[in-house]
Amino acid sequence: MSIDPSSASPLSRRQFLQRSFAFSASSLLATGCGGSIHSAASSATTDSVVGGEAHFLMVGDWGEAGEPNDQGRVAYAMQQYVKRWNIETDALLMLGDNFYGSLHGGSASMRFQTQFESMYPESVFDCPALVVPGNHDYEISPMAKYPAELQYAANNVTRWTMPAQSYRRVFPETNPIVTFLALDSNMPNEPAQPLPTGHFYTMTDAQRLAQLEWLESELQAPLTTPHLVVIGHHPLFSNGPHGDNHTLIRDWGPLFQQYNVALYLAGHDHDLQHLEIEGQSTSFVMSGGGGAALYPLNSSKADRGPYAAELFGFTHLQIKPDELIVRHLNTDGKLLHKFTRDLSGKVTIASQGAA
Ligand SMILES: [Fe+2]
Repeated sequence: MSIDPSSASPLSRRQFLQRSFAFSASSLLATGCGGSIHSAASSATTDSVVGGEAHFLMVGDWGEAGEPNDQGRVAYAMQQYVKRWNIETDALLMLGDNFYGSLHGGSASMRFQTQFESMYPESVFDCPALVVPGNHDYEISPMAKYPAELQYAANNVTRWTMPAQSYRRVFPETNPIVTFLALDSNMPNEPAQPLPTGHFYTMTDAQRLAQLEWLESELQAPLTTPHLVVIGHHPLFSNGPHGDNHTLIRDWGPLFQQYNVALYLAGHDHDLQHLEIEGQSTSFVMSGGGGAALYPLNSSKADRGPYAAELFGFTHLQIKPDELIVRHLNTDGKLLHKFTRDLSGKVTIASQGAA
């Protein structure tokens, strides 16, 4: 199904893409593409958050440079959301590009206070924040920001959790039901990521291989929880301008399949997405609307869904023993898209609201 953007009822490019993706989802559901996607979708934006043994709020591409107005709007919406639904978050997931621009003073920079500690206050989010590095965190401006972020975590006076390049956490502490593997997705020599010469750096190839070995050993270890989620900054698949990351698809895709990774959570493209890719059993969720200027979606990818929208917002992951519930929400806390995924991998689109 397609929509003519030049029809009598003119649509902006953004509306066209949003509607295209929504209609693509209907098409995908009707044809059963992806194998086990079902629809219980309504167009309503109302929703109730009930139950769940664990809750996580995530945001990517959030460390806005300059006056963080859009970051502030998203962060405020996150606070209002957890208050409205009386949610006690088990962790925040900070999906990279934690600081755009300069980080003068390194780990002592006031930006850790203004754009993290105060922006997502402990009084509301009394929980760890699992942080992964984005490409902007590798940027040297005027010094390398990633080592400063590692050092800030090592100071141990913060919720900022970044003990190493890659790490594992389970939640809740008692009777855990979800395992997170946090990865560094800054792959060397990724041709899909043209970067300004001299401004960005990535891991070395030796680090890439070492992390891959670590990932495989972690996946081989006995899983103590019913759910397994991987987080990183760069998506494997994206309908945004950065597109698909072929290094990650090659390195991580087969492992995600083999070890039944339920969700891969990322950012990098500044939008909100949920992609189910044919031949991939993992559900791919991108939450890159945390504050940095939005990117237009890629119209050539409009046949992939179920959801993509060029919007500021955040994402809520609610976990039950037998089910994952994912919601994309906008800066008014309104539901944009919701899906559930059971332990068999069956994905149900529960709601597809208007932007
Ligand atoms: Fe990025």
